[in-house]
Amino acid sequence: MNAYEEVCHWEKTEAVQTLRRCGLANGMTAMDLGCGLAHYTIPAAIAVGVEGRVIAVDKDKKPLKAAHQRIQDAELSNVEVLCANHLDLAHIPDSSIDFIMIYDMIHTNARVEMYPVIKRLLKPSGILSFLAFGEIRIRKNPQGVLVKSDNGKNITDSFDDALNQLRGEIESFEFEPHSIIENEGVHFDHFHSPYHWKRYGEVRLHSLERGNIHNYLNVKEVRV
Ligand SMILES: C[S@@+](CC[C@H](N)C(=O)[O-])C[C@H]1O[C@@H](n2cnc3c(N)ncnc32)[C@H](O)[C@@H]1O
Repeated sequence: MNAYEEVCHWEKTEAVQTLRRCGLANGMTAMDLGCGLAHYTIPAAIAVGVEGRVIAVDKDKKPLKAAHQRIQDAELSNVEVLCANHLDLAHIPDSSIDFIMIYDMIHTNARVEMYPVIKRLLKPSGILSFLAFGEIRIRKNPQGVLVKSDNGKNITDSFDDALNQLRGEIESFEFEPHSIIENEGVHFDHFHSPYHWKRYGEVRLHSLERGNIHNYLNVKEVRV
């Protein structure tokens, strides 16, 4: 298997089991918000099966085009691809989604806008599944704006402090910690980095960073 085939294989095997461990099950409706190249959309579509559905959302047309092609190559017919950001989802009914993934995307977003959207879309007891890497260390306020020191420099927190901040915010929106799936989230940044391909000849799956997936239950009815 070459490096790309290895990733495709992971999407169809290990990643399916990982998402099942996160709570994704047959027949569910899932959303991959910030789906990128569909590395998690594809396993989600396999995990929910033909009775289920995945809505793959990305605000950027370029990765979405590639995602669409990859979903077709994987012969999956239960995925809807949507070019939108979190504020363009008003047409999706309240409490209609069982499982929302926000993987490797929270660091570029205004979290205060995003959590209420996720809250509205999730069914009661639906799952918010969250994965983040080192990018969260650069401090941004909940509006997504960089926080600077007195001398105008970016402030960098430890990963644990940054994660605790995000976890506290999520819980303040009435999401209850449900499970942590350790070391099974894969960071695909180097896989898509021409610099890393040039430097190492190829980028293999085993060399990619791993992280914990944090899952939260939507414990209360949507507030109006
Ligand atoms: C670093 S990539 C991660 C992709 C994928 N989730 C993964 O883990 O492989 C982040 C993606 O999220 C998209 N994105 C970021 N914020 C978004 C938002 N608010 N709504 C929709 N897409 C968003 C970006 O365009 C980008 O394609």
